Amino acid sequence: MLDPRDLVDTDNWLISRKLFFDREVYEQELENIFARCWLYLGHESQIANPGDFISAYMGEDPVLVVRDSRGKVGAFLNTCRHRGMRVCRADAGNAAAFTCTYHGWTYGNDGKLVGVPGYKEYYYEELDMEQWGLVPVAQVESYKGLIFGTFDASAPPLREYLGDITFYLDKILDRCEGGTEIIGGVHKWTMPCNWKFPSENFLGDSYHFTVTHISAMKAQSSNMPSNIAAVRGQGFSTSPGNGHGIMIDWPNDASRPILGPPLMQQYNADIAEEMEQRLGPERANMRYSAGNVFPNVSFHVSPSIRIWHPRGPDKIEIWSWCIVDKAAPPEVKEAMRINYLRTFSAAGTFEQDDGENWSQCTESSRGIIAQRYNLNYSLGQHQERTSEEFPGQIGPRVSEHNQRYFYGRWVDLMAGTSWAEITNTITK
Ligand code: FES
Ligand SMILES: [Fe+2]
Repeated sequence: MLDPRDLVDTDNWLISRKLFFDREVYEQELENIFARCWLYLGHESQIANPGDFISAYMGEDPVLVVRDSRGKVGAFLNTCRHRGMRVCRADAGNAAAFTCTYHGWTYGNDGKLVGVPGYKEYYYEELDMEQWGLVPVAQVESYKGLIFGTFDASAPPLREYLGDITFYLDKILDRCEGGTEIIGGVHKWTMPCNWKFPSENFLGDSYHFTVTHISAMKAQSSNMPSNIAAVRGQGFSTSPGNGHGIMIDWPNDASRPILGPPLMQQYNADIAEEMEQRLGPERANMRYSAGNVFPNVSFHVSPSIRIWHPRGPDKIEIWSWCIVDKAAPPEVKEAMRINYLRTFSAAGTFEQDDGENWSQCTESSRGIIAQRYNLNYSLGQHQERTSEEFPGQIGPRVSEHNQRYFYGRWVDLMAGTSWAEITNTITK
């Protein structure tokens, strides 16, 4: 097993480029991170009724997330126990059972093996069907509509794993009665980059906005302030522990072009009072731009939620959805959906800007000479503080504060051989 401390210098914040292209690093990530952490599976609104299911991935493992006929949510490896065929190839649907299309083994929507062709004639009733159900995901839990799963039975409960990021997640999930829902389908696309580049970007990269996105921002907004760089510096970044991170605009920054169309802005004003009652004045006035729950689920004010599925050291498959308040009027939901499509979706203007960066960062780091030169993550080091109102370690808005906590957590997980070994202390 490689020692991640040889790759990440947490004193000077220099990080080896091997993290972004090396096969050995990647294989250890699949084992130590993706087979161990809580991973986002989907939203409860996608499987509202008994028998509803959606397809998902945990790392590279295909998974089926199902509300069984009794209403219980479970998740199973989407692979037949006979020869490994995928037992369900649809993105979503409703089914009492899943029949494998190779030899016909049939599994109930609770994962149990309920039918085997030729059970009497060819298996002579000697197959112990109890033992051959779909492989269950060890733990499945929800937080305010978001369903997560982990393959590690010894992982801490989801609420503990999420920690104080819930304070900020509530700004998305709990700002009005009824919570949230997913509208429209899933967008999927691939990108030739390492999964950590987008995760670290969404979790704390305020530094790139005014360079990477400047032309898109100018095209989108007729009232761009001339001192845009100074505006982008307002607010803070925060790492509430366990490698999670979010970027906050504070105070409420009306000059941000990504605020969206007038209908969306008006709606936010309309629910301001309800939001303040539910979340208190600090959170009601605070605005987030983007964040990431460790390791690879990001959210964005566009409004969207997406997973950066790893597909090898230098490839990802992005799954992205539009997430809205369930109680919002239909025309507001539609305005949100269009805003998401135009900004941060497969064809979104800002998305195109970002993707170009991440794939080039990956491609140009693997050269035999380039890989001798570490990357620099020192921006804004030693500027951390704590706050009375806001949980987590607070850093300047423009800094690499959140990235350092992300990679600190990455080191802890890559070095540890069990959850018992991984402390909850935040790596500085
Ligand atoms: S592979 Fe599924 S029944 Fe044979
Ligand atoms: Fe960006």
